[in-house]
Amino acid sequence: MVRVPLDIKSAIIEERPGAGKPHVFPVLWHNAGPGPPQETMIRILVIHYSQTGQATRAAKAMMAPVEAHPEFEVVWHNIEPVVPYPFPWGFFTFFDTFPESVYLDAPALKPANINPDARYDLIVLTYQVWFLSPSLPIAAFLKSPEARVLKGKPVITLIACRNMWLTAQESVKLLLSERGARLIDNVALIDQGPAWATFVTTPRWVLTGRNNAFWGIFPPAGVSAEDIAAASRFGHALVDQRHLIQSGLDQSLFAGLGAVNVNPGYIASERLAHRSFRIWGKLLRRVGKPGNPIRRAVLLVYILFLVTLILTVVPLGIVIRALLRPLMRERMDKEVTRLELPSGSGTERIRR
Ligand SMILES: Cc1cc2nc3c(=O)[nH]c(=O)nc-3n(C[C@H](O)[C@H](O)[C@H](O)COP(=O)(O)O)c2cc1C
Repeated sequence: MVRVPLDIKSAIIEERPGAGKPHVFPVLWHNAGPGPPQETMIRILVIHYSQTGQATRAAKAMMAPVEAHPEFEVVWHNIEPVVPYPFPWGFFTFFDTFPESVYLDAPALKPANINPDARYDLIVLTYQVWFLSPSLPIAAFLKSPEARVLKGKPVITLIACRNMWLTAQESVKLLLSERGARLIDNVALIDQGPAWATFVTTPRWVLTGRNNAFWGIFPPAGVSAEDIAAASRFGHALVDQRHLIQSGLDQSLFAGLGAVNVNPGYIASERLAHRSFRIWGKLLRRVGKPGNPIRRAVLLVYILFLVTLILTVVPLGIVIRALLRPLMRERMDKEVTRLELPSGSGTERIRR
């Protein structure tokens, strides 16, 4: 029995000795089950890394409707650093990671289990933020030779972090454009509770591993289970607009679905903190490698400086900006709109 390609995909040619012409039975070449043949399926690559599993859970929730649909094939690529990052983090190890994080000093990764030259119609890049930058394993992937998979592809970024993702996304946008990718959507899921609460719950979680609610005022750490489950709306949007995906997609599919929401109050704080991270990060990288005792001593000085900054300059800045807001409204609105691109913060399609 031989298989040959035919119009309708392929055929089984049954050769019966002495039966004259071979009999041709049409069959599906790759995919004998229900659904279209593999070469017409919409292939989506989901790249993910997560220490607690949160970012991966968000990606799974988003992709659940897609995976259930017979016209899609979803390939998962879990990024693994050669030397895993600890969880929970030690106090010094945590802070000692900021210089490499802000300078995107890529750690070595285990070999990728995907074929970067295979056909993918869309790529979902799931990441968390480390020190206002994409987490180091994600930055390492974006700088690796395997990142050629992104070339010419539409990309959706999915962020799960405390609440400060603006600067990290600017870095990711740059890395994606350097790889020749097109960012078509961005979804940002942030930790539950007000900023003053997550200022405590998120560090408590990453430094101790505890994510429970406590003292009656602090909510559980991390993105709420409801927000993660609601990420399935983006998967439904992919299914609904699947006819667009293989046609050189260059437009947002998630507009009107409340994909992001930029808090104008964070724009200046992130810029100030990022500038300070870069200045001190440069110095610390000159002093030594992570773990170097002299670097740790300088780091301690920086942590004290940072705490002073957070307790004095940051609240003062909030008050000054609130006073200046009426004068700066137009400029601020423009910046918010720019940072919310490409998906925007509109919610008009959610009910549908
Ligand atoms: C080293 C480190 C730095 C972090 N820095 C930020 C940050 O700058 N902004 C932010 O919103 N969240 C920050 N977070 C929280 C993470 O983005 C994320 O919410 C948390 O680590 C859980 O992610 P995961 O379990 O998916 O890895 C940081 C976490 C770590 C471990």
